[in-house]
Formats: sequence, C-alpha cells, structure tokens
Amino acid sequence: EASQLANEMDIQVYLVGGIVRDLVLRVKNQDMDFVVAGDGISFGNRLAERLGGRIRVHERFNTGVIILPGDDFRIDVASSRNEYYDHPGALPNVSPGSIKRDLYRRDFSINAMAVSLNTFELIDYFGGVQDIRDKKIRVLHNLSFIEDPTRIFRAVRFEQRYSFQIGEQTIKLLRSARDLDLIQHISGHRIYEELRHMFLEQEPAKHMARLFELDLMRSIHPALGYDQKTMKLVESMEDLLVVSDFLRLEDVRRDALYCALILRTIKAEQIMALPILQELPQRDREIIAFGCSKAGMLLHELGRTGKLWQKLRLVKRHEEEVLLLAIVYGNQQASAHFLREYLRSYRTIHPILRGDELMALGVPRGHQVGDALLMLTAYIIGRDANRPDRREEENFV
Ligand code: CTP
Repeated sequence: EASQLANEMDIQVYLVGGIVRDLVLRVKNQDMDFVVAGDGISFGNRLAERLGGRIRVHERFNTGVIILPGDDFRIDVASSRNEYYDHPGALPNVSPGSIKRDLYRRDFSINAMAVSLNTFELIDYFGGVQDIRDKKIRVLHNLSFIEDPTRIFRAVRFEQRYSFQIGEQTIKLLRSARDLDLIQHISGHRIYEELRHMFLEQEPAKHMARLFELDLMRSIHPALGYDQKTMKLVESMEDLLVVSDFLRLEDVRRDALYCALILRTIKAEQIMALPILQELPQRDREIIAFGCSKAGMLLHELGRTGKLWQKLRLVKRHEEEVLLLAIVYGNQQASAHFLREYLRSYRTIHPILRGDELMALGVPRGHQVGDALLMLTAYIIGRDANRPDRREEENFV
C-alpha cells in the first residue's frame, strides 16, 4: 500500500532504521519507519487514510505516527531530515535533506540502512550488511556519542540483544564519551527510558552485566560499580519472570523490579532523589527505593510466623513487586517457596463467606473480621492440600 502510494504521488519513500536491520537479520519487528524525500506529512495523511488509521502529527519535527485500529504495530513517517543538535543531549532540530544525509545522522551502521519503496532496492552506504555479517556495532562517525549520548546505552542494547560486539573504534569513542561525563547532559528521564528498554529486553541480565563492565552504572549513581551479588539477583529475577505467565503477573512493573535490584546498595532517600526517577509514577519510585528493604523485612517476618493465616496477612500488605523481590532474595528459603505458592495459587482462593456474613454471624466488626476471613482462606488452602481428590468432587458441585 505504502509503495503504491509513493509511486502514485511520485515521491521517494524509504523504509529505514530498525525494521531494515531486522529484515536483514530475519528477526521480527513490529515498528515501521518511513522517510519521505519531501513532504512526509501529506504522505502520512494519505497513507493513514488508505489504511483506515489515524495520524498524530508532530509539526516541529515534520513527522507523524500512524495508529491503526486494533493493531500493535506503529508506523512512523518522517521527512528526510538534516538534523542538528543545539547542544549535546538536546532533541534534534530538523530541516529537509537527502536520504544519504538522513542515514548518516543515525546511530550505528546496522541502523542506517534503507529500502526504497519505489525500487525495492536495499540502500546501504555505511556497510550495515557487512557489520551484520561480522556481528559488529559500529558508529558512523566520531561525534556520534557526543551528538547523542543516549547512544552509549543503545550500543550496549543492540550488542547484547543480537550477541554482537561493539567495534574497536566505537568502544574507544564510547569510553571517551563516558569519561567526558556526557551522559549527565541527557535528561534523567531519557536515561531511565534507555534503561527501561534494556530491562524489557529478552535477557536483561546480559545487558546489566555489560553496563557494569563498561562502568556505565556510575552515570546513574557514582557508587554503582560491578557487584556480583546484584548480578546474581538480577539473573534470578530474570529466571523468575520467565514463569510470569504461570504466576499470573501480567501487570507487574518489570523495569521497576530490575531498577530496584540495580540500586539495592543505595540508600532509599538517595534513590528517591535520583534524577533518572523524577518523572516516574510515585508507585514505581517507591518500589525502586524501598522494594528491596521491604522484601528483606517480609522474609524476616515470614520466617518468624508459623500460622498460614498470619502469613497471608503479612503478604497481603505488599505489592506484587515486593513479593517478587522477596522470592529472589529468599532464594531457596521456605518463605520464598511460600511466596511462590501464594502467587501461583493461594491468592486466587477466596473464603467461603464474606465479611458482612461473618458479622451477621456475630464476629465483631474491625480487624477480627479480616483475620477470620484469612483463617477461612487458610483453612481452604490446608484442606485442599490434604485432599488431592477434590478436583473430581468439584465437578459435582
Ligand atoms: N536513531 C538514532 N539515534 C538514536 C535513536 C534512534 O540514530 N538515539 C535512529 C536509528 O536509525 C534507529 C531509528 O532511529 O534505527 C529508530 O529508533 P528506535 O525506534 O529507537 O530504535 P530501533 O532501531 O527501531 O530499535 P528497537 O528494535 O529497539 O525498536
């Protein structure tokens, strides 16, 4: 459809960036980026109309995002651009330019390829295909990290995602950008966004390990050097979240969990003041700052509590994220095992009676009602655990 429209409007349109890289790599990618030589916005408007979607236009950048109904993938449309940066770490300013210039402005050779929608040719001025063969992450010029220091994190992300290597010259440039403290020029929120992308990758532990190895965590807090215990916890969290469907954890904030672990050696009040967290929802910031210490306390209290209903009472006071942190901290402890069982099954078990029914039976209003409900739940859990034949019975109820 896009290619037909490009030919009808008689303009050059290119598919660019990550999707071209992933086409060459034969990896799935849901996001399409188009660059139009000329007026990207009118192309975008007409494409959106044809596809039955809407377009959100960003005038200042001469770009648009097409949103298709009921689809996960998004289409970005830009006018071929000649960006310049007011100062390192600023968002780019944009003026019209050619496709080659547009591609030259990009971060790495593997992300600087295009496919013409007019001729279906692969355009690769900077050796992207060769770098994919060689498994290399390579910048296009010496100022790349200075123009946009977020690329420091992006280099690590693509390297780890595809099991590539950052090229020799590129790693030198990356280290000098790090040593020039350029990361401090990026807004805290943009740094967090880069980290979040890494936390949400398939294997975040690899990404974290590399950030430590390149000493990039210090740009988040100067006290963050390589720490084996932290890495072990991050790896356990990754393993735990692999079974997240099984534990029914769709809504859990994975990024906050990893961030809490990375920052676990920093004091809570210092964490709350970190620039990278300033634009996050309060709930996420609290999980990041207090999650690990709450998890530690929870494990301690569970260890001292014998009765199941009392354990349930303790657990219900905490967010799921805290329970997950406690499982990871607790490792093979019985309390960690209990928390897994809680997430997997106990929390879906409801008492036979409601609170108002208990009060009608004469249980005094107040915390006794809550406790009685927990006792009923614990009773059901205990009964079911002792009677594996119950499933069959259930069919008759
Ligand atoms: N880009 C860049 N410098 C940045 C961010 C982006 O040059 N700091 C360019 C790259 O060409 C990149 C494209 O913009 O391919 C799109 O960026 P983005 O959507 O962030 O990344 P993708 O490459 O699509 O990666 P992902 O697969 O993670 O979405």
